Amino acid sequence: MELVRNTNLSALLVLLSCFCLQFGSATDTITAAKFINDSETIISNGGDFKLGFFSPPNSTDRYVGIWYAEISVFTVVWVANRNNPLKNSSGILTISEVGNLVVLDGQKKVIWSSNLTNSVDNSSAQLLDSGNLVLQGNTTGAFLWESFQHPSNTFIEKMKISTNVRTGKKVLLTSWKSPSEPSIGNFSAGIDVRYLPEFFIWNGSRLIWRSGPWNGQVFIGVQKMYSAYRDGFSLVDDKEGTFYLTFTFSNESFPTNYVLNEQGKLLQASSFNEEDWEVTWSTFKTECDVYANCGAFGSCNSQNTPICSCLRGFEPKNREEWNRGNWTSGCVRRTPLQCERVNHGSEGGKKDGFLKLTKMKLPDLADWSSAREEKCRNQCLENCSCVAYAFDAGIGCMPWTRSLIDLQKFSSGGIDLYVRLAYSELDKEGNVKLIVTVTVIIGVIFTGICIYLLWRWMAKQKGNMHLPLSQRTKIYNHREEEEMLLLNKSEDNHGENVNQAKLEELPIFNLQELASSTNSFHRSNKLGQGGFGPVYRGKLSDGQEIAVKRLSKASGQGLEEFMNEVVVISKLQHRNLVRLLGCCIEGEEKMLVYEYMPNKSLDAFLFDPIKPKLLDWRRRFKIIEGISRGLLYLHRDSRLRIIHRDLKASNILLDEELNPKISDFGMARIFGGNEDQANTTRVVGTYGYMSPEYAMKGQFSEKSDVFSFGVLLLEIISGRRNSSFYDDEQAWKMWNVDNMVALTDLIIREPCFEMEILRCIHVGLLCVQDFANDRPTVSIVISMLKSEIIDLPLPKQPAFTERQIAPDASSSQNNLRKCSINNVTVTMVQGR
Ligand SMILES: *[C@@H]1O[C@H](CO)[C@@H](O)[C@H](O)[C@H]1NC(C)=O
Ligand SMILES: *[C@@H]1O[C@H](CO)[C@@H](O)[C@H](O)[C@H]1NC(C)=O
Ligand SMILES: *[C@@H]1O[C@H](CO)[C@@H](O)[C@H](O)[C@H]1NC(C)=O
Ligand SMILES: *[C@@H]1O[C@H](CO)[C@@H](O)[C@H](O)[C@H]1NC(C)=O
Ligand SMILES: *[C@@H]1O[C@H](CO)[C@@H](O)[C@H](O)[C@H]1NC(C)=O
Ligand SMILES: *[C@@H]1O[C@H](CO)[C@@H](O)[C@H](O)[C@H]1NC(C)=O
Ligand SMILES: *[C@@H]1O[C@H](CO)[C@@H](O)[C@H](O)[C@H]1NC(C)=O
Ligand SMILES: *[C@@H]1O[C@H](CO)[C@@H](O)[C@H](O)[C@H]1NC(C)=O
Ligand SMILES: *[C@@H]1O[C@H](CO)[C@@H](O)[C@H](O)[C@H]1NC(C)=O
Ligand SMILES: *[C@@H]1O[C@H](CO)[C@@H](O)[C@H](O)[C@H]1NC(C)=O
Ligand SMILES: *[C@@H]1O[C@H](CO)[C@@H](O)[C@H](O)[C@H]1NC(C)=O
Repeated sequence: MELVRNTNLSALLVLLSCFCLQFGSATDTITAAKFINDSETIISNGGDFKLGFFSPPNSTDRYVGIWYAEISVFTVVWVANRNNPLKNSSGILTISEVGNLVVLDGQKKVIWSSNLTNSVDNSSAQLLDSGNLVLQGNTTGAFLWESFQHPSNTFIEKMKISTNVRTGKKVLLTSWKSPSEPSIGNFSAGIDVRYLPEFFIWNGSRLIWRSGPWNGQVFIGVQKMYSAYRDGFSLVDDKEGTFYLTFTFSNESFPTNYVLNEQGKLLQASSFNEEDWEVTWSTFKTECDVYANCGAFGSCNSQNTPICSCLRGFEPKNREEWNRGNWTSGCVRRTPLQCERVNHGSEGGKKDGFLKLTKMKLPDLADWSSAREEKCRNQCLENCSCVAYAFDAGIGCMPWTRSLIDLQKFSSGGIDLYVRLAYSELDKEGNVKLIVTVTVIIGVIFTGICIYLLWRWMAKQKGNMHLPLSQRTKIYNHREEEEMLLLNKSEDNHGENVNQAKLEELPIFNLQELASSTNSFHRSNKLGQGGFGPVYRGKLSDGQEIAVKRLSKASGQGLEEFMNEVVVISKLQHRNLVRLLGCCIEGEEKMLVYEYMPNKSLDAFLFDPIKPKLLDWRRRFKIIEGISRGLLYLHRDSRLRIIHRDLKASNILLDEELNPKISDFGMARIFGGNEDQANTTRVVGTYGYMSPEYAMKGQFSEKSDVFSFGVLLLEIISGRRNSSFYDDEQAWKMWNVDNMVALTDLIIREPCFEMEILRCIHVGLLCVQDFANDRPTVSIVISMLKSEIIDLPLPKQPAFTERQIAPDASSSQNNLRKCSINNVTVTMVQGR
């Protein structure tokens, strides 16, 4: 009922917006004939932003700018003629003869220009609803110029702060000189990539603040960024040299922006009531935020007095200065490291070790290596120039080979940093023994209590016991094994309990619990059968609903390897990925516990005779967008670079609001094989969604996921399974013939959406091209779907025809040749 009402409502909204398009287009555009003068403004189509002339407070100078239309406090987000104000109100904003957007003064002198290099006929400028002012040659052409590429001091949603590591071109925020003077001030902020992409603020050319590297979800040096902004930001590497940061908040009911103010502070502000702004976060809350405040090997803690201290094993370089509170020269090592001593000819003594510092803002200038956690430590220990390391699941291994600068101790959040110290500076062995002994005793007591409680609980449950006795004893054995493993580990690591930490992060369910929650994996609770094992629906004792995937035994991984993978994958969190709640490993059984999705999978909706009606075009487009975002996150935004390898409608789950969530990601990793582009002998995946190179040669890459995405996209639009494209000669011919519209599901065939649907079909066809190189990357797919890229290339022959799993390369070449003779026309897809 609720759903039906929603669909009606959105249909109405869509109708209204179609209506508005025709009526409203007049007021958001500037052309040579339709310029604006000082007293006029234009307003974006949806009414969110206004463009016009304004004076800053306490100033009579006139500037051209863009501001929020719906917020009572006048808030400028962009200024055109920042460095060249108009002195009176006789200025105009228009299009020049050569097609430039220009501000002219009373004597028609050019005050400001968009500085196009080539002249264009009949160009026009349009203020988009995102707040972007764009200059277009003609309606179908790409943007010739856009204000988002020339930001002022404000970072708003959908804008891209970028840097190109090949050309060195940067898009930066620049502060105003003063609140009454928008001209370019001393401070700038933007992305830079040294070894890892980071956000920086500069005072002139001097670095004054850094965010810490991006780990796929957050900047790890920003305290409390986790909870609040996890969904909003993405930092994208387009693999063509450009890295950009952009954000869209999931809660669109109020605007949020970031302003680099006149003092060099970056402020996050939201307008909750459309009246004023509330600053919700800012840089430089404490002195510790100032870059390198405590010098080399000094650590800053805003809760201490004085705030700076040398790391353990280090002492002030100049004690007198340090005591006076001048920390600039920092600290130096007290006891040389073993390898330094060896290099200087004296006897080496005992091996160096690591001091663990918790909750740290990691130092600047990290290197990067792909080593896993354990290997990261050894790599650092073996290399004499390595002074510290840290590991973050989203980034990987970060060793440091130079002085550690800009360290900060957080009160919450932060990352563990391991600093290399000479053996004599570390805890004495006796202490370690003591710690281990205490740990063992506590462990034994704890285990005892657990066993006791478990025994009592089991005694209670005896009535409805489902598992055979042999399996129950296994639980005990296994628990003990695990405990032993932990103890062994802690001895190796001088008391740093690596596995313990991991286990704490990821809840471990026991088999008994999962068995009882799923009624002993009863057939009636089975939700489906994936490539990696069956999935059951369950309900925990606290009422939470879960989905339990019982992995088939083929993975061939050891316990520890498996745990590592699962922990890593559990850290991948994105609103378009299904969340992993925990796991269970007992004896032969390995299970993954996921959040339960009440609406099951996309295929259940799409290919059901009744339900597709619930999926109108808007919703379908949202689903397509969501899937592409999730996929982008897997491919790009997380350092793990996961290739899904089995993307299909049944692996897309839908939550209550029909938001898509990709499931089964990371399975390929757990089941072996985690290179970027690799050959695999055992082809996982589903016939029909597999790219030709994967099906034929077992070659997989990001582009094979793009292929599967393309198939999925076409399925979503057509409402038909891809298998019908093979079986039914007629059906697949529709890809070729001019009648693209015929492919579209009847339910969504409305003239209002035709262009958008055709565009999606076009993108789908680009994704399913035979050659991986021809297919776009996911980030480009997203830009195409959002119409940021307007001119789409023509797709080459789609792979649907005569495809077979060829036994060898020669016959696959035959296939290709056959395809290229078959002259396909898809020109219809181009816009009209
Ligand atoms: C701007 O144009 C409007 C309408 O074209 C006109 O009424 C107004 O006087 C003009 N203002 C100035 C300052 O030229
Ligand atoms: C404008 O001037 C008044 C009076 O000098 C001052 O109180 C106010 O802070 C100024 N506003 C800005 C934004 O500079
Ligand atoms: C505005 O200033 C320009 C010079 O910048 C001058 O030529 C023009 O006459 C002025 N207009 C008015 C109305 O004062
Ligand atoms: C356009 O070019 C002129 C001359 O090179 C320069 O002074 C001006 O700052 C440029 N404007 C913009 C918006 O880049
Ligand atoms: C520009 O627009 C004018 C008037 O609409 C039209 O006559 C002219 O042909 C156009 N020029 C080009 C190159 O499209
Ligand atoms: C649109 O503009 C581009 C570049 O200015 C030009 O190449 C193209 O032919 C134009 N298209 C139309 C339909 O005018
Ligand atoms: C900007 O830098 C200049 C010198 O580089 C300095 O004189 C001026 O005070 C600075 N302004 C601010 C607001 O820090
Ligand atoms: C920025 O640098 C200028 C000198 O270059 C200095 O006077 C000012 O205090 C600095 N401001 C900040 C916030 O670092
Ligand atoms: C958005 O935020 C407002 C105010 O905090 C809240 O009432 C609303 O429920 C939020 N909406 C969503 C979708 O999170
Ligand atoms: C702090 O020490 C550095 C290096 O010795 C020196 O250059 C600087 O002037 C000192 N700063 C102050 C405020 O004394
Ligand atoms: C030690 O690390 C540095 C920097 O990462 C690297 O250049 C060097 O080759 C490494 N040395 C050895 C022996 O691995």
